[in-house]
Amino acid sequence: MIVLRGLSKSYDGGKHFAVRDLSLEVAEGETLVLLGSSGSGKTTLLKMINRLIEPSAGTIEVDGTDVLRQDVVSLRRSIGYAFQQVGLFPHMTVEENVAIGLRLRGVPAAERRRRARELLELVELPAQAYAERFPAELSGGQAQRVGVARALAAEPKHLLLDEPFGALDEVTRESLRAALKKVREQLRKTIVFVTHDLFEALDLGDRIAVMHEGRLEQLGSGEELIKRPATPFVERLFRKHVELLKG
Ligand SMILES: Nc1ncnc2c1ncn2[C@@H]1O[C@H](COP(=O)(O)OP(=O)(O)OP(=O)(O)O)[C@@H](O)[C@H]1O
Ligand SMILES: [Mg+2]
Repeated sequence: MIVLRGLSKSYDGGKHFAVRDLSLEVAEGETLVLLGSSGSGKTTLLKMINRLIEPSAGTIEVDGTDVLRQDVVSLRRSIGYAFQQVGLFPHMTVEENVAIGLRLRGVPAAERRRRARELLELVELPAQAYAERFPAELSGGQAQRVGVARALAAEPKHLLLDEPFGALDEVTRESLRAALKKVREQLRKTIVFVTHDLFEALDLGDRIAVMHEGRLEQLGSGEELIKRPATPFVERLFRKHVELLKG
């Protein structure tokens, strides 16, 4: 479970806020989608959860303990993350990149290899063709998928996924969403998933948190947001979708 209370982040000493007084809870096993336009604070929020960014105010609890009081290494081990700028290690092969978390945990080489290859298949990068490549030899969308495989490899309890399928075409996105749902069913992970894509949000999110200019506009199921938008921004966001549904 992830609990945010009164969370704020300013990068300029309080003149502007990337995230402003934001509170929400992500339940055990829940997939919470953060939906919002560019610059609304989604990445900032996600990075505060695993302490890549320090909050200006407010608290974050993961599994009942304030993240600032947790050992940062074990915190990050309990949270798999795939970020927008994928950040693969350029001098390591695809397989080594996926297996890095397992290596840090002392998993034997044969087991690492088996697991990494299994995950590459899951994200539709056949190990035979991709395992030995280096990141520079991948397309943007392929690198993103390696990032997702890496996030899943160490079987973390929680997952933070920042537009993990952003660079992909709709067909590939759809099949990766299906793969993610399968993982979710098997392992009951708590997931925070960032997207710009309304359809992706509705497809994956148990609940959707709509962000706008650093604030939480509304939090609820897709149905609630569509039927009872709490703010003009949410209403506008879903209007097109509602019109499409009406045909
Ligand atoms: N390191 C930084 N220093 C200063 N300002 C920053 C920094 N990182 C982000 N910001 C600002 O904070 C705001 C929120 O940025 P953030 O990256 O969280 O948005 P986002 O919702 O993830 O956007 P996108 O959908 O484009 O990825 C933006 O106005 C951005 O310019
Ligand atoms: Mg972002």
